[in-house]
Amino acid sequence: MADVVNSRSRSSSPSSLGATEFKFPEGLVAHRENLPAGRVTATTLDGTLTKAPLQLIEDLSNGCGGQLWPAGIRLAKYFISRYRNGDELTGKRVIELGSGGGVTGLAIGLELDQIGGDIDEGGCEFWMTDMQAMMELMEKNVSFNGLQERIRCGLLDWADPLPEFVARRPVDIVLAADCVYFEPAFPLLEKTLCDIAGPDTEVLFCFKKRRRADMRFIKSIRKRFVMTEIKDEIYARESIYL
Ligand SMILES: C[S@@+](CC[C@H](N)C(=O)[O-])C[C@H]1O[C@@H](n2cnc3c(N)ncnc32)[C@H](O)[C@@H]1O
Repeated sequence: MADVVNSRSRSSSPSSLGATEFKFPEGLVAHRENLPAGRVTATTLDGTLTKAPLQLIEDLSNGCGGQLWPAGIRLAKYFISRYRNGDELTGKRVIELGSGGGVTGLAIGLELDQIGGDIDEGGCEFWMTDMQAMMELMEKNVSFNGLQERIRCGLLDWADPLPEFVARRPVDIVLAADCVYFEPAFPLLEKTLCDIAGPDTEVLFCFKKRRRADMRFIKSIRKRFVMTEIKDEIYARESIYL
């Protein structure tokens, strides 16, 4: 069970939330239709976030990225547990694709002190990206969680050439959660991954398998990348792959 508390957003400050408790299994997260615009979900991702809970403003009016998605939760937990100790993120550039409202990037920014700053001065440059329609909500969530000094938001539409902020230097880590859900976008996503990734880039790609076509996407990118599955029995039951 994911710990999740929801409320309607009444102000721009997380501290003024009047939350009503509402719990649901992670596997059901993607089925929350008719989500009221401006609802706030508060979560520690089952205790993964030890410093502050994530406060996510959810709003589906500009696209499906405006809510919590199960693969986003798994990817955030994995990344945090892998990089929690040590300084492996020092000097690294991380680009998240299809961030949506931002569960993955926001959770990482809240929990890992290494995130933020200039890579030439030992920081970790972390970008959340998405298409234009999602930018406003993403930026709102970054400020709502007080992360505007640590996380950068950038427009990266898979249908367009790579923006300058991505292309200007090699990218060390690419994150993508639940970006496999709309078949016509698969070739665009594949091209974007191939354009960004250099020989030393690691792509952490997490998705919930919903249709057969999702596996066709994996089969196709397997030809371009060396791929290793990170197995987890609990997530396998929910068809969430990393
Ligand atoms: C299912 S949502 C997942 C959101 C988020 N990663 C999460 O796990 O909560 C898929 C995301 O992919 C984004 N997306 C779809 N097509 C895109 C495109 N052409 N360029 C950039 N992002 C795109 C959507 O806007 C949306 O935010």
